[in-house]
Amino acid sequence: MWRVKPLDQILATAEKKSLKRSLGPIQLTLLGIGAVIGTGIFVLTATAAQKAGPGMMVSFIIAGFVCAVAALCYSELASMVPVAGSAYTYSYAVMGEMIAWLVGWALILEYALGASAVAVGWSGHLIGLLDGYGYHILPHALTVGPPIQLGFMHGGEVGGIFNLPAVLITVFVTALLIIGTKESATFNAVLVAIKVAALTLFVVLTLPLISGHMDNFKPFTPRGWGNPFDGSGTGVLGAAASIFFAYVGFDAVSTAAEETKNPQRNVPIGLIGSLLICTVFYLLVAGGVIGSLGAQPLMGPDGQFFADGSPQLYGSAACSATHAPLVCSKEALAYVLKEVHQPLAGALVGLAATIALPSVVLLMMYGQTRIFFVMARDGLLPGFLSTVHSKFRTPWVITLITGIVVAIAAAFLPVGQLADYSNAGTLFAFAMVSLGVMILRFTDKDRVRPFKTPMVFVVAPLSIIGCVVLFFSLNNESKILFAGWAVIGLIFYFLFGFWNSNVRRGVVDSVDLEDHGSGQPPA
Ligand code: ALA
Repeated sequence: MWRVKPLDQILATAEKKSLKRSLGPIQLTLLGIGAVIGTGIFVLTATAAQKAGPGMMVSFIIAGFVCAVAALCYSELASMVPVAGSAYTYSYAVMGEMIAWLVGWALILEYALGASAVAVGWSGHLIGLLDGYGYHILPHALTVGPPIQLGFMHGGEVGGIFNLPAVLITVFVTALLIIGTKESATFNAVLVAIKVAALTLFVVLTLPLISGHMDNFKPFTPRGWGNPFDGSGTGVLGAAASIFFAYVGFDAVSTAAEETKNPQRNVPIGLIGSLLICTVFYLLVAGGVIGSLGAQPLMGPDGQFFADGSPQLYGSAACSATHAPLVCSKEALAYVLKEVHQPLAGALVGLAATIALPSVVLLMMYGQTRIFFVMARDGLLPGFLSTVHSKFRTPWVITLITGIVVAIAAAFLPVGQLADYSNAGTLFAFAMVSLGVMILRFTDKDRVRPFKTPMVFVVAPLSIIGCVVLFFSLNNESKILFAGWAVIGLIFYFLFGFWNSNVRRGVVDSVDLEDHGSGQPPA
């Protein structure tokens, strides 16, 4: 189980495929921004407010910092091993098969549940947009998940049955992936422009309001700084662990390394460039939210703060009022604008999110299918999963299964929880990548490192510590779910992957997708 897939073998596979290397630094940065800006900022800002109040500004900085140090580590591996499969592939080369398997298994949480979270975020915007124009097409029961109180899991809303729009968008995206739709770089650039324009509009309209509302920043940390060991997932650290979702996706850039011109230089530029731009935007947006409408968390009559996204929160008198606080909203940014008397701008921001979020769903589902594909190709998952469609040349079996899982999760679970589960998987994968970079500095000293993580023995430990602290700052549910998921994964590994692994059997990769890698960034 500690066997590694030799780096030379991984690189040889990549060379054999000789994909067209077409992406440059600007396209990569745009790909990164396209994958990163999504439900996190457009929706989870409300979740962060319920967890931390105005202190969420610090949460954005903490989450951004952890992502930045993790991205620096990612960049070294991505430039050294510019192949598909991202954290899974790197771990296979460095820490052995079992860890690689666990990383790949954790990435399922990241990508599949992440896609579900974005689908639910999209649903909230669509409904908000339609409602705003008086079209109450769907009954409330078909727009939110049911109230769930299943052991450690809770969420949903009283009166909810399932989230139909979230299911429909997932079905749509799955169909696009099966027929092999690829988004052109131009289309991606247009979507990035729409998102950036929406955030800019938001910032321009809300930041000037801060001066008249300095009181909104008090108390700054109504729920404290958070304690990674109390399991509540609240306070500034708890919000940072959730809002981390808003930064996830930059690894899409490293996944595209195979299709990048001069990946050695351009992948790090794309990773770090997209992250920097997003961090600046997020801070400005958070400042605007607090300074205009305010972001204080809501308490029940018993003086206890509501859990974010809980049936109790949504069912409270405050959330049923006409001018409900931010924390009740499922389309945070659009809602803020409507409440500060900018209904047209609010509708435009809602429209921008409705147009752009499906591409984030697509990108995450695409990432999921390709990681499954690489794992199946390595013999760690049953081979039939990597069946390629005879006409469309896409891995349709895996795509279909992914679509079903994403749709079910999106139908029944609330966005905040999905994002937290996704983060648990991502944080684990990032910590492993950061560890791997340090190990490789010892075990493979002489290999060319086109990009070297600066001060790696400071940056990588910081990344690991950051990921661990954020992981523990998640609520107990997410940690328990992650642990259960890892145990199931290990059982499956020892029943199947351990025996069938190509590395164990000495089989060298054979199957590949004709269109493997996206050709273009999908989504
Ligand atoms: N970072 C992406 C989002 O916020 C996943 O939607």
